[in-house]
Amino acid sequence: MGESRRFPSGFAWGVATASYQIEGGVGEGGRGESIWDRFSHTEGNVLAGQTGDVACDHFHRYPEDVALMADLGVTHYRFSLAWPRLQPDGTGGLNPRGADFYSKLVDELLEAGITPWVTLYHWDLPQALEDRGGWPERDTAHRFADYAEKAHAALSDRVRHWTTLNEPWCSAFLGYAEGRHAPGRQDHPAALRAAHHLMLGHGQAVAAMREGDPDAEFGITLNLFPVDPGTDGDADADLARRIDALMNRQWLDPLLRGQYPADLIDDLAPVSDLDHLLDGDLKTINQPLDFLGVNYYFRHVVSVGEQPRGWRAGDPPSPWPGSSDMTPVSRGLPTTAMGWEVDPDGLGEVLRRLHREYGPLPLYITENGIACPDEVGEDGAVHDADRVDYLRQHFRIAHQAIADGVDLRGYFVWSLLDNFEWALGYSKRFGIVHCDYDTQRRTVKDSGHWFRRSAAANAVEI
Ligand code: NOJ
Repeated sequence: MGESRRFPSGFAWGVATASYQIEGGVGEGGRGESIWDRFSHTEGNVLAGQTGDVACDHFHRYPEDVALMADLGVTHYRFSLAWPRLQPDGTGGLNPRGADFYSKLVDELLEAGITPWVTLYHWDLPQALEDRGGWPERDTAHRFADYAEKAHAALSDRVRHWTTLNEPWCSAFLGYAEGRHAPGRQDHPAALRAAHHLMLGHGQAVAAMREGDPDAEFGITLNLFPVDPGTDGDADADLARRIDALMNRQWLDPLLRGQYPADLIDDLAPVSDLDHLLDGDLKTINQPLDFLGVNYYFRHVVSVGEQPRGWRAGDPPSPWPGSSDMTPVSRGLPTTAMGWEVDPDGLGEVLRRLHREYGPLPLYITENGIACPDEVGEDGAVHDADRVDYLRQHFRIAHQAIADGVDLRGYFVWSLLDNFEWALGYSKRFGIVHCDYDTQRRTVKDSGHWFRRSAAANAVEI
């Protein structure tokens, strides 16, 4: 390795996955149906009609996958528990076969010297709870806290880092407003209720888990990004403010300050009087956090010329920004296979903002990565130079943030393996390990080898 930047000792060199995206085995071990099973099996929802039925078959191949991680020098593994594996209909005692699967996975990780980081909810709500109204119903928050408490009781002797939710914005708005994710509803006021109940479920879950286990670490993962106006005009400045309120501050402020942003409440007045917000909720949501997980992919640059999906000319400016595909103003930067502009500086801005406005607070990058059109070449390798470049640039920015005083403690690359990219099916490959879905053969990509070298050195080249 040439000249390099070293990370603080103990820095977490992690990789991340999520249950529905990799496990498969959907009908096995007593697992119940999730909203993603129902959604992906409904025609027209997922590209090419693909589903997570088999995915990377991790349910059966987890020993091989853990060995792969050990070989890559992964120190921390972020994965999610499938709620319907543990509570098939979202209520009651844990399904012993589901608990056994995760228990074995955790043992395998610990034996390999890898620290397990559990996410309790990465979008696979038990369908039975959706049938009872889903996240827009307050009871789902209570059900989530009950599930969290039981899952924690089953694994807390070995799992010491617990993340409640992954990207609640996506659960609420892609799932209930845009309908591009499960459960596929298009009801904006319902999405707002879902957002609040996700937060409430987080708070109740943390309180319940921490009560019996004060020394464990509890946090949440948000998708965060800078939002910049596309032009100097006032209208774009206001649009950027609204999008920042809805997508960033709607989560950060209740979690870390115990209040919703005043400007967000004003923006939402035409669609909701927030009557789902009850006395005491904000206090419940505002539990102390041991860490905040940041998922960063790209900066959002927005202009009123480019209103979000569902907005029609003549409508008032929409408080509902579009989402993951919303980079309405292109700045001509290189883009990933997702069409997202590569903008490592945005990561630094997010980290510094959190430190300045909400910190001091231990931070982890719980996801960052790039989709590339990877193929196994004739030499049997996957030469994903763009991913190596992307990761190197983003790790450098992370290193710089630490030098600037940000309390950043680790970095989980999305993803260990190519996997089921939600509504885009298997068309987008994010892994540092290639997955051949026909044979389930895993091939470490050049980026995986880069990760191994960097983790071993606890440093990235400059
Ligand atoms: C965020 C989500 O948490 C993850 O599930 C998804 O695959 C990646 N971003 C890439 O889109």
